[in-house]
Amino acid sequence: MCARGILVHAIAPAVIGTELLQQMEKSTVDLLVSKIPMGRVGRPEEVAALVAWLASDDCSFTTGAVHDLSGGPGHVLGLAGPWRGAEPEPPSRNDRGQSGGMIERLWFGALARARIYRRLILRERPLSQPFPDLSVHTPVSVSLLAAGEIDAYMTFRPDQSIDEVRSRLDEGQQCFAVWQDRRIVHAAWAVTGRARIEYLSTEITPAPDEAYWHDVFTAPAFRGRGVAGVRMVEMMRCFRDRGYRRMLGAILPENRSSLRLDDKAGWARPIGLIGYVGLGPWRHVFCRIERGASPPGRAGLEP
Ligand SMILES: CC(C)(COP(=O)(O)OP(=O)(O)OC[C@H]1O[C@@H](n2cnc3c(N)ncnc32)[C@H](O)[C@@H]1OP(=O)(O)O)[C@@H](O)C(=O)NCCC(=O)NCCS
Repeated sequence: MCARGILVHAIAPAVIGTELLQQMEKSTVDLLVSKIPMGRVGRPEEVAALVAWLASDDCSFTTGAVHDLSGGPGHVLGLAGPWRGAEPEPPSRNDRGQSGGMIERLWFGALARARIYRRLILRERPLSQPFPDLSVHTPVSVSLLAAGEIDAYMTFRPDQSIDEVRSRLDEGQQCFAVWQDRRIVHAAWAVTGRARIEYLSTEITPAPDEAYWHDVFTAPAFRGRGVAGVRMVEMMRCFRDRGYRRMLGAILPENRSSLRLDDKAGWARPIGLIGYVGLGPWRHVFCRIERGASPPGRAGLEP
């Protein structure tokens, strides 16, 4: 490209004082600023000045560079790439909420709420691999939610709409519910065929031998007791026994509990990142698959 006179630049801004910032809590902004060595946010005109120079004839011998606009290198936001934060260390129960992770969560959370940038890690779990023993001491049972059990489900998830739950069951989605003492304490939904990712307002189409899970939830009082793992193993066994080869899931990179749960169940491998960048009515949906990995719809796995 250099030989053809094409220059390529990337700009790595941190927090810039745009309207987005005005939608954030002052305490959040203060926390972000406290992590920037220059002690302030960037100004839009500072971004504009750099862009103007990069696009001008004065910039004639610079290419292939990432230009820092972060108010000081090495600050904890570390927005060097979308994979940053996508592979967090497995959390221990004591390290939840460390400041670096918290700042990142706040930042990406603000971008997501403003519908500017949202992304999920796509993960796979080949069903040919052995399942771990994730049994729990608490007596629980796992079963597929039947239409006559919707009331119990609504008691467990009062935040959801009963019409939505009915329509999922009508469409053939399967809800794997964990019961304890005749109440549901955990549930997850599995879809075959076309699957909608509500958070991204987009869809993926798993292959006929792939299933996609979503809407995983443990009642708050039961979190950390391993009930989700019991369901996970039961769900994987159920699909494997029906000839499915791979399960797929999409997780927020900041959702450490969910990533940890997947890790314990052997969902070792992220296969890519799916998300969007949006500005007003314009939206660009992307799905970047890791080299060597198979995208949804093409399991391509050894039996
Ligand atoms: C993610 C979620 C389903 C995990 O369910 P769970 O039944 O708590 O699963 P586990 O007991 O196996 O715990 C998984 C990890 O969560 C973390 N965790 C433990 N106790 C926790 C608690 N009280 N609160 C939050 N997370 C906790 C731990 O890292 C734990 O791993 P560890 O047991 O190795 O320490 C549950 O936290 C949840 O419902 N979260 C809200 C909804 C959500 O985020 N869903 C996932 C969308 S992709």
